[in-house]
Amino acid sequence: MKNIKAIIFDAYGTLFDVNSAAEKCKDKIGSKWENFSDYWRTTQLEYTWLRSLMKRHKDFWKITEDSLDKSMKVFNINPNMKSELLDLYKILSPYPEVKETLKLLKDKNYKLSILSNGTHSLLNELVFRNNLKVFDDIFSVEEVGIFKPDSKVYDIPIKKYKIEKSEVAFLSANTWDVSGGGNYGFNAIWVNRNNIIFDNLDYSPENQINNLKRLLDII
Ligand code: LAC
Repeated sequence: MKNIKAIIFDAYGTLFDVNSAAEKCKDKIGSKWENFSDYWRTTQLEYTWLRSLMKRHKDFWKITEDSLDKSMKVFNINPNMKSELLDLYKILSPYPEVKETLKLLKDKNYKLSILSNGTHSLLNELVFRNNLKVFDDIFSVEEVGIFKPDSKVYDIPIKKYKIEKSEVAFLSANTWDVSGGGNYGFNAIWVNRNNIIFDNLDYSPENQINNLKRLLDII
């Protein structure tokens, strides 16, 4: 991959494990914790897409809570657990290879940033709590008031850095976000940790890696 000036990461599901909140409560939730966590994540994402289409934006934290409320009812989870789950969502764990990979990339002097549906305060807290202070910028969709994959979101770093779309390596584990960034014009790289099937949405990533560290082999 040539002429990459900025490496831009999705946050939730790519740097941070969205299942880690429910996983930390698995003794209390029981064996349904994984299905519950998947449902919560899927509902959260559906709400981002639906609110963008309805032009009824609410920030990602409120959507995370709204989708949790529904998911807890569907899975019959004790309502007393709500605040614990939300608190844990604020300090999601990074995937094991994230810290080392970011440090190695930083040593190579790439511009590193996050571009995420999360609010600035959520993202800053995640980065701070996990001691990942390597980013040049943390870009939030709140700057444009609509969620991914609206092109206004992918425009944010291009406008700030005044670089070509093709000079960006955009990393996401979310297939639909890879399609969004790739159709926009980024070199979108799919982080396919679980060997799943890609989408049919007019873009096929040239590169897929099974964990972030493999980025160092292709950049
Ligand atoms: C984000 C969602 C897509 O961080 O995970 O933007």
